[in-house]
Amino acid sequence: MTNHITDFLQTRRSTLIKLLGNQTLPADDIQTILACGVRVPDHGVLGPWKIMVIQNEARAYLGKTILRDEFAKNNPEATQEGLQFEEDRFMRAGAIFAVLATPKDHPKIPIWEMELSAGAVAMNIVTAAQSLGYGAQWVSEWYSYNDRMIEALGGRIGVDKIAGFIYVGEKLQAPKERRRPESENVIGFYTPPVA
Ligand SMILES: Cc1cc2nc3c(=O)[nH]c(=O)nc-3n(C[C@H](O)[C@H](O)[C@H](O)COP(=O)(O)O)c2cc1C
Repeated sequence: MTNHITDFLQTRRSTLIKLLGNQTLPADDIQTILACGVRVPDHGVLGPWKIMVIQNEARAYLGKTILRDEFAKNNPEATQEGLQFEEDRFMRAGAIFAVLATPKDHPKIPIWEMELSAGAVAMNIVTAAQSLGYGAQWVSEWYSYNDRMIEALGGRIGVDKIAGFIYVGEKLQAPKERRRPESENVIGFYTPPVA
């Protein structure tokens, strides 16, 4: 049995950031994507994640104050051109959804499960954006692992982690199909050992 949702899930494809437009998204589309993003399995309803939307002038601000500075600090040999590229990273899409895993103290639920739930948030954002017809790509790049970026997005250094940034924008070009793992390498049907 298939339906339009399973058909979509089997054919959806991410669009490379360089093939996205950077026009501001309508606010109701942002709200739809966010509503889908937070509707994920979450053991114990801990809400162990946070979504920060980066759009409009926030893109340039973070570019100037964090992306450029931090890249320059960690790459003293960087050229002016390279630094400008870093500064402009968030200008490559209409909206960027940063997803943070923000684990909570819990006597039974492991942090691993909370981090998996954050991954589900990120994937729901990707799926929701693509289902609305936008191009979207989930990337980590170097700044997911940068403490100043974590702090700027409201995360706790040493505790919270950035699951990724989902860049969303109009598709300037249809994405090409991508190589996928061979089913036989990643799917099995468990059979009990023969006695
Ligand atoms: C956690 C995570 C981090 C990723 N980081 C990057 C990245 O930094 N750069 C990149 O080119 N792709 C990255 N990718 C892969 C892209 O999202 C890629 O476009 C995607 O795997 C294509 O999948 P799709 O067509 O099934 O949506 C990442 C994927 C995941 C799940």
